[in-house]
Amino acid sequence: MDTVIPNDLSAFWMPFTPNRQFKASPRMLVGAEGMHYTTSDGRRIIDGTSGLWCVNAGHGRKEIIEAIASQAAEMDYVPSYLMGHPKAFELAGRLAQMAPANLDHVFFANSGSEAVDTALKIALAYHARTGNAGRRRLIGRARGFHGTGFGGISVGGISPNRTGFGSLLSEVDHLGDTHNLEHNAFSRGQPEWGAHLADELEDLVALNGAANIAAVIVEPMAGAGGVLIPPKGYLERLRGICDAHGILLIFDEVITGFGRLGASFAAERFGVTPDIMTIAKGLTNAAVPMGAALVNGKIFDAFMDGPENMIELFHGYTYSGHPLASAAALATLDIYQRENLFERAAGLESYWQEAVHKLKELPNVIDIRNLGLVAGIELEPRDGAPGARGYDILVRCFETGAFIRVTGDIIALSPPLIIDEAGIDELLSIVAGAIENTE
Ligand SMILES: Cc1ncc(COP(=O)(O)O)c(C=O)c1O
Repeated sequence: MDTVIPNDLSAFWMPFTPNRQFKASPRMLVGAEGMHYTTSDGRRIIDGTSGLWCVNAGHGRKEIIEAIASQAAEMDYVPSYLMGHPKAFELAGRLAQMAPANLDHVFFANSGSEAVDTALKIALAYHARTGNAGRRRLIGRARGFHGTGFGGISVGGISPNRTGFGSLLSEVDHLGDTHNLEHNAFSRGQPEWGAHLADELEDLVALNGAANIAAVIVEPMAGAGGVLIPPKGYLERLRGICDAHGILLIFDEVITGFGRLGASFAAERFGVTPDIMTIAKGLTNAAVPMGAALVNGKIFDAFMDGPENMIELFHGYTYSGHPLASAAALATLDIYQRENLFERAAGLESYWQEAVHKLKELPNVIDIRNLGLVAGIELEPRDGAPGARGYDILVRCFETGAFIRVTGDIIALSPPLIIDEAGIDELLSIVAGAIENTE
């Protein structure tokens, strides 16, 4: 069946998009299978970013489609308030098993933003419940992205996402970001320089008093802020400082989860276990929206001590643990396991690394960085027009056969984990051509 493209695009207020620019020259996608999207003019373009860092097992996976369809036919919906359905419990158990030790309780949400708000609220409520109600400060990091809820933008560190939205959460501080071209340009894998940047947390502790700090939230590898790879030793140091001061550490693994860095989670790759971990995106291969916050037993148990007929946490969503999302997630986890996709990503990492670093000599490239199946290619911004070069490259890639993502003048690549060496070559030759041919 041919897809009908509407003539009038005005009603849809598109997210994170210059609406007028897009509608003057739309890029419509009408199909997706495996590594490729199909455009409305019938071209196949390779997916260089797994949709939005989320279609980790590739597009159109039959097992996921069938799981959703059969669940919809069996039972479309049941709330998770005072009721249950088997798949949500099965999924929570599977996630607890996959996650690093102790992260064995799962609170379901519908997106990364909701997962983050859930994590922040649990952190605050945990301290209040354990006699530390003074611990109310939340610490994020510059250039961090934690979604678009008020909690997420408060701890987030991307200025346009914060300004213009009122007073946000009041008791928030930020660490500096870890990006440094002077020391770390063209690093392969984790940069050598920068572990000491974690000590900024000690400064914030000295300034505010540990007894007032609830939690630190970071993306183990920052994605939306421009692919910022943690320096060797940085996350370990952050963990140590949190432990020394009774501060909870939250890893936002919304993009780093589910094989992106060649392991189930970044926590596993780096050998650093947070107290709370947020996930979304690759959880369902993006087929149905779903997010979650995983917490350790110590946190969960702290809520289980009151009267048994009382709600322990006044928080939740109509669609927490939605049956369709649960079915999609279970089918997705099966694919990851059966096809060893996380190991596959780890196995491709060195080929990917060598291939992306070959783009070093192209015009305007000032840095290339990589980890797992992620790469950031940073371009010199045009004088007085930050982001313009990046946008032109995105459009040129779309026209010449690749779907990529840019953050300002940083190209972010994160292909589905089913990619192979030929796919890597295909993607990077299109990206290289676009960089070469863009002023
Ligand atoms: C690290 C991180 N956290 C949270 C989010 C928000 O997720 P969502 O858009 O599903 O709300 C994102 C989205 O890109 C993300 O990258």
